[in-house]
Amino acid sequence: MTAEYKVHDDIAIITLNNPPVNGLGFATRKGIVEGVEQALNDANVKAIVITGAGKAFSGGADITEFRKEAAFREPNLHGVIQVIENANKPVVAAIHSVVMGGGLELALACHYRLVAAGTKVALPEVKLGLLPGAGGTQRLPRVIGVEAALNMIVSGETVPAELLMSAPGQKLFDELVDADDDLLQTAMGFAKSVAHVKDLPKVRNLPCKHPQAEAYFGFARTTVGAMAKNLPAPLKCLEAVEAATKLKFDAGLEKERELFINLMWTPESRALQHLFFAERAASKIDDVPSDTPLRTIKKVGVIGAGTMGGGISMNFLNAGIPVTILETKQEALDRGIATIRKNYEAQVKKGKLKQDKYEERMALLTPSLSYDDLKDVDLVIEAVFEEMGVKEQVFTKLDSVIKQGAILASNTSTLDLNQIASFTKRPQDVVGMHFFSPANVMKLLEVVRGEKTAKDVLATVMALAKKIKKVAVVAGVTDGFIGNRMIEQYSRQAGFLLDEGASPQQIDKAVEKFGFAMGPFRMGDLAGNDIGWAIRKRRAVEQPDLRYSKTADLLCEKGRYGQKTGAGWYDYEPGKREPIVNQEVLDMIDQYRKDAGITPRKISDDEIVQRLVFSLVNEAAHILEEGFAQRASDIDIVYLYGYGFPFYRGGPMNYANEFGLFNVVETMKRFAKNPHDDADFWQPAPLLKQLAAEGKQFQ
Ligand code: NAI
Repeated sequence: MTAEYKVHDDIAIITLNNPPVNGLGFATRKGIVEGVEQALNDANVKAIVITGAGKAFSGGADITEFRKEAAFREPNLHGVIQVIENANKPVVAAIHSVVMGGGLELALACHYRLVAAGTKVALPEVKLGLLPGAGGTQRLPRVIGVEAALNMIVSGETVPAELLMSAPGQKLFDELVDADDDLLQTAMGFAKSVAHVKDLPKVRNLPCKHPQAEAYFGFARTTVGAMAKNLPAPLKCLEAVEAATKLKFDAGLEKERELFINLMWTPESRALQHLFFAERAASKIDDVPSDTPLRTIKKVGVIGAGTMGGGISMNFLNAGIPVTILETKQEALDRGIATIRKNYEAQVKKGKLKQDKYEERMALLTPSLSYDDLKDVDLVIEAVFEEMGVKEQVFTKLDSVIKQGAILASNTSTLDLNQIASFTKRPQDVVGMHFFSPANVMKLLEVVRGEKTAKDVLATVMALAKKIKKVAVVAGVTDGFIGNRMIEQYSRQAGFLLDEGASPQQIDKAVEKFGFAMGPFRMGDLAGNDIGWAIRKRRAVEQPDLRYSKTADLLCEKGRYGQKTGAGWYDYEPGKREPIVNQEVLDMIDQYRKDAGITPRKISDDEIVQRLVFSLVNEAAHILEEGFAQRASDIDIVYLYGYGFPFYRGGPMNYANEFGLFNVVETMKRFAKNPHDDADFWQPAPLLKQLAAEGKQFQ
């Protein structure tokens, strides 16, 4: 039973028991209704207590029912709420640990609410592109006030019960129960004390007013509108709360329902729900059981204190894990440590980090020039120069000094991890941990699975990623792994667009309007155009016939590497990141077109976006088919967390699914006919072709 019923001393107790967070699935909803009815029919029962077993009162909707028919099966949450609210015996919610979404809406229908200290309260629906659809937008403002309720509903953020309880005049909770006290006993005592009450209090009967409603909602609309950008849900949340202040309760509920249903059909909500499941799926590795014993990681070593080594170290220091960082020269070591300090100091200055926390973190960091200091680390991450010879030296040394059973990781972004593993006598312990720059900020981690990487190594690294607040995705050993292998095709396509007549600023603007954090040319300037140059030089040897625009090479020949040299596709003022158009670059591109005999044409923003996004999609389909990514949603995670793809579009694969794979293929066929593009480039990957032909989607 996912809702247990028992009677104790005249009091019926209904305990939600649907682990892990007592989601309100069909069986649980049915159980609650049956429990309430049984209690109402039992003359010996004077009052009802509803509580949750285990780690929550209720986390809200049951995620296993998401987007399934069961979510709507009667009794739905509205039905449960009505039964509770209309009960003619007092219903007391005994709330602890977590009360969220539908769980809070259910509690708001109870006549009384007791809350244990430390409980986390939230209406997080907006994070899935929705609004609380079971009365939350109508009842919450009635108990905590319009402004506080709007803040909670629009942000979806969690608020501690104590904070809500401390607001003057609040009617959300009747009592705060000390963490040491027995919540259920207290709730039963409370239920007995109100058993005689005939006119039971209902939140729906409370007034809902704001003294300056017009002005307040006007202001809120501007603020929320600016914050929400491309997301419809936050403004709809506002509309629903405003309705609570203007309409009678039942009319308000109806309005909420209408807004909720409209949001459910938006692509933005579908994208956010896709992301919710994608994140959960990403941590699972198909052939690695979830109960695989993990290796203990108490101490970490980092080799190389450059751009990446410093950022990587900070992740562990932030999580309270000691790090020993190794360099070859004192000077480089000092520079690396100084950068870490500078980053932390900037956070202290901004008030994001307390001075004592900063000192605590720095105290966990040990600079070193000797491998002897790494003997007992449990994990070592190499972040030295991107040259196989240097990697060989480092891994040979690591193999000889690091204790057996430790994990040896490389942060390489392009080199063959299997070859790196072969430099050791323990390739099963070698794995890729590909962080993204700046490594202390970017949430993505590609965990690169070598041919011989042991399952427990993978499981340990995936768990560790969570601990250091990264979103990890498993990638196979392929050139560029998932993210960079795709970006190479995207950059090639951006080059073709330049050749044909678009300017870097038009392309960047079109892509940014689509929602990317940054267009391809600004991104190149940020990452360093020399990186792509090096890759192209390598490709010229490997695939001499591969077509690409030479404009980026010409740019690099001028030393315009990007922000680090103050000049790339754009100019940059010292210390600033604002791109300034440079006429010389435009002339250079123009000259290149003339030399290649191309008459520039006007290209629409739509074409730009489609060519760039579909170039990602096609390469991703190859990656998926070749088995270098486990699932399409992992690829979306890589692009959302590592490459600034707009969240509200759910990643390139989700976008392609929404666009329709048949339409994607048709569009690609059209691009293939363009003489200035590359017909080979637009050959749909076999998987894409097949799915499109069968009317299916990427999974
Ligand atoms: P970097 O040049 O900033 O830092 C490399 C550091 O390693 C230097 O401080 C150097 O003194 C040190 N080093 C070189 N040989 C060493 C050795 N034998 N022992 C100890 N230290 C040694 O380079 P960056 O950008 O930090 O890159 C490091 C690795 O991370 C490379 O494999 C790179 O491909 C990868 N990577 C870089 C990204 C980026 O955006 N910069 C992103 C993801 C991965």
